[in-house]
Amino acid sequence: MSEVVSAIATCMMAKCFKGLESCTVGEGGVSRARGLNGMTDIPRDDYQYGYSSRELKRLGEQYLVWSKENLSFLKRAGFSRNQTIVDLGCGPGFTTLDLAGAVGPHGKVIAVDRDGEHSLPLLEEQARTAGLTNIEIHACELAEIEFAPESVDGIYGRWVLMYLPEDSVKDLVGRMVSWLRPGGVCALAEFCNFLNIHIHPPTVYLMDVAKALMRNVSDERGCNPEIGTLLPRLIQKAGLKTEINVVTKVVQSGTAEWIWPDKLFTDVMPDLVKKGFLSKTSMEGFLQDWEKHSNNPEAIFFGSPVMETIGRR
Ligand SMILES: C[S@@+](CC[C@H](N)C(=O)[O-])C[C@H]1O[C@@H](n2cnc3c(N)ncnc32)[C@H](O)[C@@H]1O
Repeated sequence: MSEVVSAIATCMMAKCFKGLESCTVGEGGVSRARGLNGMTDIPRDDYQYGYSSRELKRLGEQYLVWSKENLSFLKRAGFSRNQTIVDLGCGPGFTTLDLAGAVGPHGKVIAVDRDGEHSLPLLEEQARTAGLTNIEIHACELAEIEFAPESVDGIYGRWVLMYLPEDSVKDLVGRMVSWLRPGGVCALAEFCNFLNIHIHPPTVYLMDVAKALMRNVSDERGCNPEIGTLLPRLIQKAGLKTEINVVTKVVQSGTAEWIWPDKLFTDVMPDLVKKGFLSKTSMEGFLQDWEKHSNNPEAIFFGSPVMETIGRR
């Protein structure tokens, strides 16, 4: 974006991604998030749900369904005017825009995601439409992003650490803490207790589906879909004062919020079968039950709880 402000960020050993330039290498280098020629490398490990336009739309719907909880989380973290905040795994950047509003025109949000091809251009477009000039966009692997010590006031991340191998999360938490200025805050929201998912009236297929969703996230890289459970201790051990809070989402069929579980189940399930994580019988049984639930005003979906961890330096 033309308004990209000068960067304090450098991304060591930055990878180049299709579509957007990766973080510029170099101490105190100025970052650009611009289209580039000749970017041929593709991300080594794709985001488990992919970057189809349907998935990006689903993220937008999910953002809206969780907006009350998310805004209250940002408020509790205390993100405020003139701060510099990093948004880890920002995706198409729905919360990035909220953060940009919170820090105001003299603050800055540094939005980082590996997907420079689909998600970040969408963020760029949204920021332009909203007239926001305080967002700096980086296409970068979280394993490789680096900031100067004590250079940021806040770090936010939601539903992103679950897609990183657990060892990378541990390493990232250590690095993140060093980026925070004294008084700085990190606010991380990740699922915990995934199998706590429930549907009323119950369906016998739900546990198969929940386990398949977990396997899909874990994949062969050892990602932890319940990383929310480990974060409070990791952050505490890294030296921050830690507060935790658990939020969940309960939605009734027939309401606008039903779209959140509905899209997740109907979009993702064929892929779970293709990957061998779910049997075709369980998928078909579940989808039949789900359709009945969607037409049953008594049906309720209970989502997995999300651990909100706030660490203060
Ligand atoms: C479920 S989306 C969440 C987006 C956003 N945080 C939200 O709450 O709506 C996960 C995002 O994390 C990004 N991501 C996953 N692994 C990543 C990695 N290793 N480095 C950078 N971004 C990553 C994906 O590209 C995707 O945009």
